[in-house]
Amino acid sequence: MHVPRLFSWLTLACATALAANNETAPGIIPGTTGQYIAAGGHRYYYLEANPVNASLGTILLFHGFPDFSYAWRYQVPFLTSLGYRVIAPDMLGYGNTDTSCDVSDFALKKMSTDMVEVLDQIAPGEKIIIGAHDWGAGLAYSFAMWYPEYLKAFFTISIPYTRPWLGPSLEWIDMLDLVQNHTYPTMAYQLQWRDPAVNRNFSTKSQVRSFLNAGFGGLTEDGRGGLSPFEGMQYDIIPLLRNQTLVNPEDFEIYVENINQKGMSGGFNWYRTRRMNWEDELPLAKRGDFKYRTPHLFIPATNDSFMPPELYTNMGQYFESETVEPVEAGHWAMWEKPDQVNEILRRWIAQL
Ligand SMILES: *[C@@H]1O[C@H](CO)[C@@H](O)[C@H](O)[C@H]1NC(C)=O
Ligand SMILES: *[C@@H]1O[C@H](CO)[C@@H](O)[C@H](O)[C@H]1NC(C)=O
Ligand SMILES: *[C@@H]1O[C@H](CO)[C@@H](O)[C@H](O)[C@H]1NC(C)=O
Ligand SMILES: *[C@@H]1O[C@H](CO)[C@@H](O)[C@H](O)[C@H]1NC(C)=O
Ligand SMILES: *[C@@H]1O[C@H](CO)[C@@H](O)[C@H](O)[C@H]1NC(C)=O
Ligand SMILES: *[C@@H]1O[C@H](CO)[C@@H](O)[C@H](O)[C@H]1NC(C)=O
Repeated sequence: MHVPRLFSWLTLACATALAANNETAPGIIPGTTGQYIAAGGHRYYYLEANPVNASLGTILLFHGFPDFSYAWRYQVPFLTSLGYRVIAPDMLGYGNTDTSCDVSDFALKKMSTDMVEVLDQIAPGEKIIIGAHDWGAGLAYSFAMWYPEYLKAFFTISIPYTRPWLGPSLEWIDMLDLVQNHTYPTMAYQLQWRDPAVNRNFSTKSQVRSFLNAGFGGLTEDGRGGLSPFEGMQYDIIPLLRNQTLVNPEDFEIYVENINQKGMSGGFNWYRTRRMNWEDELPLAKRGDFKYRTPHLFIPATNDSFMPPELYTNMGQYFESETVEPVEAGHWAMWEKPDQVNEILRRWIAQL
């Protein structure tokens, strides 16, 4: 386990979350086996599924916030049926994988290197396909920039690539400024989630339950949500929400149990590394305009109000080979429209 560098209120709060770790997290996708692997000084956990016949290759899936490998329950069996070996890790801070009190462990370059250490052990010498949702997409964009030689292609769901939010820039611009000058008005929620004080607000099981209920779209009797792109969690509305209906009650309990076991501070840490990522990527910005050469598929969720179309209409300029296949769904498109998402993946993979 990582030893915190600073002894402070923040590390104390984080240490409490670490102690709550439980090794028997629920939520195993049928047809997969769970394995542990050491990478980047952490212990990672991943689900693995293998095709019936000889494998056509490996697909590595990165889930987002707050989530775990179970995010891919509708995709893993499908991708396996196409003939691929599928690996779905619990990302850092989630499920059976370690978390860390050191925010720099969550910097995107560091986590990309962790994933390279995983691949060198389980798919050595292979060019793989990465698929990703939400913050997993943020990591995939970083991985594809630092380690293109590991990639045949990659796809991302819900989260577009937009600078200066993600990717190399010469100038540092804080998210607060980008929200206040209306570059990213729908990213104001990130200001709440990057604040260390938010950890304490979601530190008990019932608070985790409330977060997930709001995050999965629970509504009040008069149709208001508890999570706003402009404000983040709306503490006055959360107690009034009825149960979400995005996932069935069994899966919802699996989420509550699993996310609660690790606590939410690790997940929030993904929102706290933007300055570190900018520093890591500055040498690339100085080298000139970075462009992805790896084939990429983006699946926008057109009803995700946090990620409006103006964030991705000009996305093609950053990719030499870009496919965009929108799905009419909310943020959790791969659960809401699994057949449609899978069909898009099937067609895209077939032409690679
Ligand atoms: C871990 O979680 C399981 C299932 O939720 C529970 O039965 C078990 O007692 C927990 N173990 C610890 C050490 O908390
Ligand atoms: C596996 O290979 C056999 C023999 O080539 C073939 O008949 C079968 O359809 C394949 N199964 C799958 C799931 O691809
Ligand atoms: C917001 O501020 C950034 C940094 O100063 C600048 O690059 C951008 O053009 C501004 N956007 C608007 C809409 O004012
Ligand atoms: C934490 O919760 C309190 C209400 O209980 C709220 O006033 C405060 O803004 C919250 N802090 C964050 C960072 O969300
Ligand atoms: C809402 O969910 C809770 C547990 O998550 C359950 O106990 C309760 O019965 C549900 N309420 C309704 C109206 O379904
Ligand atoms: C998406 O949003 C439109 C416009 O608000 C609405 O009519 C439609 O029902 C929504 N679709 C889904 C799948 O929620």
